Order: sequence, then structure tokens, then C-alpha cells
Amino acid sequence: MPRQLFVTTALPYANGNFHIGHIMEYIQADIWVRYQRMMGNVVHFVCADDAHGAPIMIAAEKVGKTPQQFVADIAAGRKPYLDGFHIGFDNWHSTDGAENHALAQAIYRDLKANGLIATRVIAQFFDTEKNMFLPDRFIKGECPKCGAKDQYGDNCEVCGAVYSPTELKNPYSALTGVTPVLRDSEHYFFKLSDPRCAAFLEKWTQGSNARGQTHLQSEVYNKIKEWLLPDENGKRDLGDWDISRDAPYFGIEIPDAPGKYFYVWLDAPIGYLASLENRFVKLAGDAETGSQAYHAFMADPATEQYHFIGKDIITFHTLFWPAMLHFSGRKTPNAVFVHGFLTVNSEKMSKSRGTGLDPLKYLSLGMNPEWLRYYIAAKLNGRNEDVEFSPEDFMARVNSDLVGKYINIASRAAGFIAKRFDGRLGEITADGSALLTLLRAQRLAIEELFEDREYAKALRETMLLADRVNEYVDANKPWELAKQAGMDARLHDVCTVCIEAFAMLTAYLKPVLPMLASQVEGFLAVAPLSFASVEQELGTGHRIGSYQHLMQRVDIKQLEALFEAPAVAEPEKLLPGGEPVAHTVGAVASSLPPEGAVLALGRPGGEAIAGPIGIEDFSKIDLRIARIVNCEPVEGSTKLLRLTLDAGEGRTRNVFSGIAGSCKPADLIGKLTVLVANLAPRKMKFGISEGMVLAASHADEIANPGIYVLEPTDGAQPGMRVH
Ligand code: 2FM
Ligand code: ZN
Repeated sequence: MPRQLFVTTALPYANGNFHIGHIMEYIQADIWVRYQRMMGNVVHFVCADDAHGAPIMIAAEKVGKTPQQFVADIAAGRKPYLDGFHIGFDNWHSTDGAENHALAQAIYRDLKANGLIATRVIAQFFDTEKNMFLPDRFIKGECPKCGAKDQYGDNCEVCGAVYSPTELKNPYSALTGVTPVLRDSEHYFFKLSDPRCAAFLEKWTQGSNARGQTHLQSEVYNKIKEWLLPDENGKRDLGDWDISRDAPYFGIEIPDAPGKYFYVWLDAPIGYLASLENRFVKLAGDAETGSQAYHAFMADPATEQYHFIGKDIITFHTLFWPAMLHFSGRKTPNAVFVHGFLTVNSEKMSKSRGTGLDPLKYLSLGMNPEWLRYYIAAKLNGRNEDVEFSPEDFMARVNSDLVGKYINIASRAAGFIAKRFDGRLGEITADGSALLTLLRAQRLAIEELFEDREYAKALRETMLLADRVNEYVDANKPWELAKQAGMDARLHDVCTVCIEAFAMLTAYLKPVLPMLASQVEGFLAVAPLSFASVEQELGTGHRIGSYQHLMQRVDIKQLEALFEAPAVAEPEKLLPGGEPVAHTVGAVASSLPPEGAVLALGRPGGEAIAGPIGIEDFSKIDLRIARIVNCEPVEGSTKLLRLTLDAGEGRTRNVFSGIAGSCKPADLIGKLTVLVANLAPRKMKFGISEGMVLAASHADEIANPGIYVLEPTDGAQPGMRVH
């Protein structure tokens, strides 16, 4: 019986484009889904934009859009990434879709009927300047658990703790920089402290599914058990979960609670179900039939539900989500698969900024998406471990393994079959048959490795098999057989074995390299390959097509371009007629620096590097980290902004900065920057300026407008000296 699976990846926030971390997760899940389909299983693989929450509402307001329009615009940019990396979601939806509104309200009603919703008046942070309750993401402070600085109000990115914003130490509003005040508001809670929840979660988090697989990887269970299990005093960290937010909020209204909305993390995972329902509706062609089909699918005990997620959102998916499902009378996940972060050149990825590896730039450079799929797969295992992208390793694995070992087999044999034997396969000799048997013998092991998401091992096994095939080629030297009289039959047989072996290896690699596999299927003139197809030979007399080169090697120049910092645009060169010189256009050219870029002219940023100074000159300048506690326009000036800076001196400083043309005050408030702290105070028309903040700009302000205020990396504190 084919299995029926419902597979998701985490729903990305609809406030930015994908970064390489998203793409890694999607590739991991996509490989698994493709493997399942090759095994004959039925899979619904869905995702959606995580549309709700105050950050998106505020971001939309900033650019003058409705949140709905803002989210739709982000959604419209998803396709090039997904198609580009061959990520085959069956459906892409939005948590603001009608299905999610209905499902979230239904789940809430079921939890309420089960006695698991409580209301309490709580004191919540209120920004008196913005006149609104502050969303969690807009309150920052120190983590109550580990003390890490500058953590958001809902969970700590350092230790993973989940808490309410009022638990933060030394909170401040990230919108205005003010210290927020506490104000009362009635909130709705999911009663996770109910003994039923604790009992259920203790069991579920340690439990296994019908296939005997644990719901959680052991390292994931070890991480959450400190939250879940009582300490020596019988106290648990798992408290009731605040699931409501006050208007104004972009979200789903809580039934019978005017002005109250579900907190985004309540409706986000429900979006998995909503996207699945939406898929069924699309398949059925009408809402009612589709919805019935969805309910029947989810009610079927045979349906298996799997979520791929990153390690930063474990608590939501392994505690809150299973409890929401279970206590609303719904099916719980069969397993949650957690992966680590992708580091690029050993740099940890930031969720909002991503890393230096821009997925669209990768594609625009003409780099093969399947190189990246292969490389990521070659690094992934079934555990929650970080994955390091190293350009040298990337190049070595693609060029030496994928092209050098695997593609090479076809390129060494196919030409002879086409030219000398009319494209037809010959006999399989005894030695060839032994080789093919060896390849076949690994089928179950490789299947299991894919099933367990041990992709690195699956590829290692496959490449070991490719080594065996290459040894066979080297031992038989078809290029020499081709020159020897009377060796035609042997040449035919040897090349036939190579092609048969190549077909088998292609089947093993197909979940990772779907496009390449489809090209190979075309060239071999075979039906879509599956794991089972390795049992059957193409057969004597089978006619294959002509070989076209299947894959290029990675060129070091492509990697250099990929990791090159975005080039500073060269000022437009004006022709005597006053028209700018036309730039070369085209996918690759447009993302590369213009030819003869400014670096070559010795004028980076439009100006030559200043003459040398000694360290003693530099040390005269006292640069300090300062927090921008306030920033506002200066009446009567279009250029200046007035900054109130805290450089850890127990007082604030007033600094005027000529950045108004490029910076919005709201974007700067709360940020850290670098202050020239010992610049003599200067009397200006609007008041005294007590220092200067550092900012970058191009020398040619007209051709290259933009002023970029410097910001230190995480961890810097006001008052620290910059050396
Ligand atoms: O962390 C995130 O990016 C969230 N948008 C993930 C949500 S996953 C699911 F719950 F929707
Ligand atoms: Zn912490």
C-alpha cells in the first residue's frame, strides 16, 4: 500500500525575500518528498507565507501599503527562488487565507470547549509615544533565562527560551527607544500548565509513530525536556501561553472577543493545515468538496504528517503545536524534523539578513541549481546539526564527485554506443553483471538513508558505487578497445555496462538532482526512473539517444563573483551628447561589477584612499558605541536629523547629522552606532552638536546617493571604545 503523506516546511515570514537558509530547508524537504514519490507514495507538500503579526503590519505602514498588499507583493517574489532551485511545493498559500481564518477559529473554539482557554488581565508594555501596546518583536532587552542582550520580547535567539516580554530585563521600545510603561489589558491564554497538557506532552515528546520512529530526534527531545519536565521542586517552566494581541494587529480575530486577535504564532502552524485544505479545494475545483476531501484525508489514520523546521523554532513545533492539535481533537504530527543553521564561510546566519550567499545572485550567475542541491545534500544528515557552506569544498564536491565520478561514466561510454553501435545497447557480460549486482545490492541501504534524511551518507554510498564503475572503465579502457581490431564486441559490452550502471546511479541521485535525472531519462529513452527500476536493465537492443554534455564543472570565477561584495555602482559616464553610456545587460552581466569597476581605478567609493597616518594619529580619535535613543527631523532643515545618543556616560548627547536625505528617524531609533566622542562641541544654527556619528557614502552623491549609518555587530554595548 502506498503511504499518504502531508509534508511541510516552516512558513516564512512575509516580510522579506528568501535567504539561503530558507532554500536549504526547502531543498532538504524537497529531496525527501521526491524520494517518497519515487517509492510510490502519495505526498502533499505544502507551504505558505506567514502573513500576520505586528512587524508585518508596521513594515507595511512604513511603505504606505495595506498589510494584505504588502504580503501579496512579497508572495509574488517567491516563484523565481522555488522554480530556480526545483523546489516542488504542491501548494503555496497564505496564513491570511480564508481557510486559515476558519481553521484557527475552529481550533480555538475546540480548545475552549475543552477547558483549555483562560483569560487574565495582564500588564503589558505600552509605548506612550506610539500610543500602542508594543508587539513582542518591538520590545528588546536581556533574556530572563541566559541574560543575552538585545533579545526580542517573545523568545531568545541565544538559548531558545520562550517568555513573555514583561520578563525581559531592561526593556526598551525598538520603535521609539523609550522605556515602555506597563498597562493593563485582558489576554487569552492556552492553558499549557493544565496537568493534562503536561502529561500529554511528556508522553508525546518521547513517543514514536506507527513506523517506530521517534516523534523527535533525541537531541531535540533533550533540548525541550528542560522546559517540559518538572525540576527537583516539582516546578515546570511550561506556563500558560499568551495567544492574544490587542488591536491594532494584523491577524485573525478571536471569536467573541472584540478588538482581540490571535498572536501570529497561534495561527502560523495552523497555516500548514490551511494550505493543505486550500490544495484540496484547488484539486476539487470547489470549496465544499475540497474541504470535505481535506477533512477525510486528515481523519484517515493512515495519513502521516511531517514538519521540516529549523532549530530556532523547536518549542513552538514540539510543545505548543502538538498540544493545540491534540486538545482540539486533531491529528498530531508523526514527526518533526529539525535541522541546524547554514553557516557560510563559517559565518552564522542571521534570520533577517541571511548570509553572503544570495540565492538569486547564485542563479543569475548561471550557476547550476543542482550543484547547490547536491552540495547541501552532501552535507546534510538526519540530526539537528549546523551545516557549513565552504566555497572550496563546494567546488571540490561538485567537480570531483558529481562531474568527475558520476557524469564522467556516461560521457566515457555514450559516444561509442552512438557512433559505433547505432545507439543500441549490447550484452551484459559476466564481469559486468557482477558490477551491476553490486550496485543493485545497495538499493535498500540507500533507500533507508533517504528515508532517514541521511543524505550525506546516501550520496557517499552512491559515489562509492560510482568509484566501482570507474574502476571497471579504467580496467577495460574502452578508448583503447575502440582502437583495437576485433574488439568491437567487447567495447560494446563494456559501454553497455557503463550505461546500465549510469542509469542505476541516476535513480539513486534522482531525489537530489531531479532535472539532471529527467535529462538522463530523455537521453537514455527510459520511463521515469524509480528506485525499483534498478532491478531491471535497459536491455540488449535498447536504443539510447545521443549524448549531450549533462553538467558543467563549477568555475572558480563564478564563486568569486558569488561572494564578491556588491560592487559600488560606477557614476554614469556621460557622453558628450549628455546621454549615459549604455550598460551591458543580461542576467550575468547585471550582477557583476561593471567592467573596469572603480576598484581598478584606485578610487573605491569614488575617491582615492587618503595618505598614510600613524597609529598615534588614529588613537587621537575616540570612537565609542552609542545607542540612538531618539531621532527626529530638525525643523527648518532638510538635511539634518537630531540624534539623542547614549554612549554609556550616564547622560545623553545631542548630535546633528546630515543624513536626513537617506535615513528615516524610525529606522534608526533603538540602533547602535559609532560616535566620534571627542570631537569638540560645535555650535550650529539649531543648537550644539556634541560629536558626530559615522556613516558611509559615495563621493559622488548625485550619481550614487545614499548614506549608510554604521552599526556594530551584535553584542556591542554603549560606551565600548572602537579600536
Ligand atoms: O520563524 C519563522 O520564520 C516563522 N515564520 C515560522 C513559522 S512556521 C509555522 F508555524 F508556520
Ligand atoms: Zn536566552
